[in-house]
Amino acid sequence: MRIPLIVGNWKMFTTPAEGADLASDVARRIGGLRGVEVAVAPPFTSLAAVGPAIQGKGIELAAQDLYWEERGPFTGAISHGMLEALGCRYVIVGHSERRKHFGETDQQVNRKVRAAIRGGLRPILCVGEEEGERISGKLRHVIRRQVSRALEDYPAGDARRLAVAYEPVWAIGTGKAASPEDAAEAHRVIRRQLVRILGQEPSAAVRILYGGSVTGENVAGFAARPEVDGVLVGGASLKPADFAAIARGGWEDRPEAG
Ligand code: PGA
Repeated sequence: MRIPLIVGNWKMFTTPAEGADLASDVARRIGGLRGVEVAVAPPFTSLAAVGPAIQGKGIELAAQDLYWEERGPFTGAISHGMLEALGCRYVIVGHSERRKHFGETDQQVNRKVRAAIRGGLRPILCVGEEEGERISGKLRHVIRRQVSRALEDYPAGDARRLAVAYEPVWAIGTGKAASPEDAAEAHRVIRRQLVRILGQEPSAAVRILYGGSVTGENVAGFAARPEVDGVLVGGASLKPADFAAIARGGWEDRPEAG
């Protein structure tokens, strides 16, 4: 049984003070919510302020990225150990905005995933196709390749620490979410690929989230699909009422996952 995971990706928004306010508001609304795990991912500079605002409230801290080295002359980089010291439990890896604006490659994503696992973090690996790739029928190929490359040498024994977020690039920040049916189909492709890489039993513990224009209005459609084990939320995670609606969005009525 996979517990649904709801993650708010705040991207490059919030100063520390704003982050603490936002986190407190979210905690007031959904602190202690049962049946789901909730995490928020503020920018690095707000992690220290957000941590105390959610401590003991049943909301976990996540980072948006990490670097794979432990320490050293890597100006601007942040290691898994630094994130763990701030109380991070999760780290988003390979978000399409990192791939697009910062030139992150599958190989770099792989090094980041393995660094997270080497430490005590739980990676949320993002994959997803561009609109043109979907139109030209390359969806399966693209997703399988991204998953395989990112998980090269991933220890099967650590499968339960892994989550994969299916985030079609054309759905991110556009207000044009994938249909629950399309998401479910992509999730099945990812699940089969995870079985190939990690084995049947270990892969069953991996949660597959949907991300891309999730709102309080459309979340129920995703929650109703047994293939969808949670959501990664961008824009709506900055609005406490919307994020709370997403976390409450019908996950408890979810059909038993296969
Ligand atoms: P969005 O972003 O919810 O604003 O579409 C999702 C994401 O980037 O994870």
